[in-house]
Amino acid sequence: MSRNWKTICQLNDIPAQGARVLKRDDGDDIAIFRTIDNQVFALVDKCPHKGGPLSQGIVSGRTVTCPLHNWNIDLATGQACAPDEGCSGHIPVKLEAGAIFLALD
Ligand code: FES
Repeated sequence: MSRNWKTICQLNDIPAQGARVLKRDDGDDIAIFRTIDNQVFALVDKCPHKGGPLSQGIVSGRTVTCPLHNWNIDLATGQACAPDEGCSGHIPVKLEAGAIFLALD
């Protein structure tokens, strides 16, 4: 089954090593991250520890550090890095011609 890709914003709407939040009425907010080398990742904007806003964390390489208690979360999978355990929801994302798309079902 093909995915239902939706255009969200342009890559340049997100600062390098920063994030943008997609607010949703019908679900959790989504944090869209941009790395220093222009990769994009999307996670539910809730830390798996105690729900901290990952969109306000520090992006470094392929991880984001939660602003509340400094857990590191893998941007590609949403998994907390060891020794911490837990997972934020991961949303499929793609970048085409400078535009960011999410698969929101
Ligand atoms: S809520 Fe993110 S580390 Fe505690």
